[in-house]
Amino acid sequence: MKRILVTGGAGFIGSHVVRRFVTKYPDIHIYNLDALTYAGNLENIKDIEKADNYTFIKGDITDADFITGLFNKFSFDGVIHLAAESHVDRSIKDPLAFVKTNIIGTLNLLNASKELWGKDSGEKRFYHISTDEVYGSLGAEGLFTETTAYDPNSPYSASKASSDHFVRAYGETYGLPYVISNCSNNYGPNHFPEKLIPLFINNIIENRALPVYGDGKYTRDWLFVKDHAAAIDLIFFEGKNHETYNIGGFNEWQNIDLVKLLCRLMDVKLDRGAGTSEKLITYVTDRPGHDLRYAIDATKINRELGWKPSVTFEQGLEITIDWFLENKEWLKNVTSGEYEKYYEKQYLDSH
Ligand code: NAD
Ligand code: TYD
Repeated sequence: MKRILVTGGAGFIGSHVVRRFVTKYPDIHIYNLDALTYAGNLENIKDIEKADNYTFIKGDITDADFITGLFNKFSFDGVIHLAAESHVDRSIKDPLAFVKTNIIGTLNLLNASKELWGKDSGEKRFYHISTDEVYGSLGAEGLFTETTAYDPNSPYSASKASSDHFVRAYGETYGLPYVISNCSNNYGPNHFPEKLIPLFINNIIENRALPVYGDGKYTRDWLFVKDHAAAIDLIFFEGKNHETYNIGGFNEWQNIDLVKLLCRLMDVKLDRGAGTSEKLITYVTDRPGHDLRYAIDATKINRELGWKPSVTFEQGLEITIDWFLENKEWLKNVTSGEYEKYYEKQYLDSH
């Protein structure tokens, strides 16, 4: 049986990846390594925790000795690396946490893989999950391709860019077999309510203000999380060694248009009068270094691996909203305690 290490599998995207692999590949044993930070939640993968081909390991990728020991113990055949500090606003307040997890944590995993696999790495694979934010900001025109120069603007994207470079360098220098993918903004079930879509769904439920940064004209390319997990599955098995794949939703929205759509959908779901949720929209001080526009050219993964999104944005948003409304307990649990402190610091102190 093959042994695959997934890092960050208790987080948003990682939980969908773990579920997909555990249920689709009974002959592969999935080891889910996660430190269970504020963003990690075992509730996200409760349905598969008893599967025979699944093991959860609580641990920190920044602990080099622990990581080396883990690789020696389980002799992984592959790594799918998602563990990260992932929120831009947090990176502005605490860049060092991003350097530690995203750069040093990745380096620890690279070192352990290199040591374990040595020269006999033909069948092995290190898959690094990255973001389109490493490419910086687009103007009104154009798309990010796999050859767009890196130009990160936030501490988050700078840390992800650095880790991407290290992965590539380990491929060139030590022959480590790797693939990297850079994906656009995800949304869907289990999304932590600090990012735009789940935050605003939660605030609409709670009748709280909807804090739109700046003029709201910033543009993101949204992809349903299960379509990202499907792309990761394809790339892990069929992507070419030492290659990068861009993954995107072909689905650009200005924040303010997206927020208004969300408000309309939520009014219907919550049986509130039309226009009720829109009244919650509040323009607040902009995020420093705010990237104007992200948009992915996903032609390569479509052409080479036949991937494309399976749901429209309307379908994906409907599934997402329904999930949040049906999982109020989950939402209550993740927004208790520390969350309120974060919220106050982010939205009540500075705006
Ligand atoms: P997330 O914040 O929801 O989850 C991150 C997970 O990593 C959590 O379970 C957390 O506990 C774990 N983790 C954090 N630090 C750790 C450490 N030191 N050791 C072990 N585990 C640790 O993030 P996400 O949105 O699911 O993103 C997953 C990956 O995908 C990240 O690498 C991110 O950069 C990338 N990505 C995210 C998006 C997006 O829209 N969310 C888009 C493109 C790429
Ligand atoms: P976010 O979900 O944080 O993802 P990213 O910054 O990684 O793209 O933000 C998406 C967009 O929404 C981004 O342009 C910032 C904006 N935004 C707000 O206007 N208000 C908010 O409270 C948040 C969290 C984001």
